[in-house]
Amino acid sequence: MQSENLKSGLNPVNYWMGKDSLEKLQTLFEEFSKVFVLVDENTQKYCLPVLLEKAGTLDADRIISVPSGEEFKNLKTVSFIWEKLTEMAASRDSLLINLGGGVITDMGGFAAATFKRGMSFINIPTTLLGQVDAALGGKTGVDFQEFKNHIGTFTNPLAVVVDPVFLKTLDDLQWKSGFAEVLKYGFIMDKPLLDNIGNRSYQQIKDDSEMIIINSARDKIRVVEEDGLEKGLRKILNFGHTAGHALETWFLKSGNPITHGEAVAAGMICESWLSNQLTGLSDEDLKKVIDIIDRSFNRLSFPASVFEELLQLTRQDKKVRGNLSRFSLLKNCGESVFDVPVEDSLFVQSLEFYLGRQK
Ligand SMILES: NC(=O)c1ccc[n+]([C@@H]2O[C@H](COP(=O)([O-])OP(=O)(O)OC[C@H]3O[C@@H](n4cnc5c(N)ncnc54)[C@H](O)[C@@H]3O)[C@@H](O)[C@H]2O)c1
Ligand SMILES: [Zn+2]
Repeated sequence: MQSENLKSGLNPVNYWMGKDSLEKLQTLFEEFSKVFVLVDENTQKYCLPVLLEKAGTLDADRIISVPSGEEFKNLKTVSFIWEKLTEMAASRDSLLINLGGGVITDMGGFAAATFKRGMSFINIPTTLLGQVDAALGGKTGVDFQEFKNHIGTFTNPLAVVVDPVFLKTLDDLQWKSGFAEVLKYGFIMDKPLLDNIGNRSYQQIKDDSEMIIINSARDKIRVVEEDGLEKGLRKILNFGHTAGHALETWFLKSGNPITHGEAVAAGMICESWLSNQLTGLSDEDLKKVIDIIDRSFNRLSFPASVFEELLQLTRQDKKVRGNLSRFSLLKNCGESVFDVPVEDSLFVQSLEFYLGRQK
């Protein structure tokens, strides 16, 4: 499938999805003078052998390996990648393959987008979160000081290859984290997907995940092709993320980090309650959303004394305009709206609801 238009404001992308997608890469490589592969220590061990076996002639000397983890998603690591590319005489006719989770595709995309004013890159996501979210949509970047994704660009890869073969070695925590985003697509825009996964937990979809992953990836592609630069529609992807980011940051600061997906799962419960108050989500649909999330995710616990801090954290989110934070909320299961202003007191009540203190 190739993107059809430039409505997104970004260059078109080739998407290859499903089993055997990797084989198609060989012909693409032939168009470039040199092909480099960016990996972290885990994807070097678990994913590079698969890529080499399926996509043939890659030069082992052109592997760039960086340590894994969000703490290395910074300009220092980007500088290391630029150094390696320079040492190995990469040019604008070269190709960089980003083989890894969201950290590698975000950072490798940024390194490529800026190297000699832009070299081509392709994303081969190897985590569930990467396959349904991070590798798609053209956002590249790194963290800077204490700010997440503070430096970056909107630059599309030449291609994205989504092959579930890589997920075999992914641990449970990472699976669960990506599953929150899959549920999100169901809630905001994809009723058939929700009907398919709604009565299963994340463990129960593992062995039958190919179509679920492809449908989720297609949902994201549909949104970003319409609104690549996040002027409007793309904001629906933020459902669960305003409350979620605040919780993610708070748990990290309190020395007890949780995954992005766990934070988003909690955020989706808070924001579904807000949707029930503000955007017409029925009581029945609210219950349905909560049941589906609770099937895979345990409730987080945090004291009422931090509500004010969580509120302040939502205000630091990029989505504040005027005085009120703007949320993306649900109209029903499968349909959403964006830019809904939410009063601070109502947000606090949504946290109380999450903790079971209020009906
Ligand atoms: N650009 C976007 O639109 C976008 C969207 C969502 C998230 N993100 C970014 O994505 C990042 C999170 O992505 P992530 O959750 O994939 O994290 P990650 O890249 O850190 O991967 C998680 C862990 O899994 C390991 N791993 C990766 N593939 C594996 C495999 N197949 N088998 C075994 N281990 C494997 C990694 O080495 C790492 O330790 C964040 O930095 C976030 O900001 C970007
Ligand atoms: Zn997310």
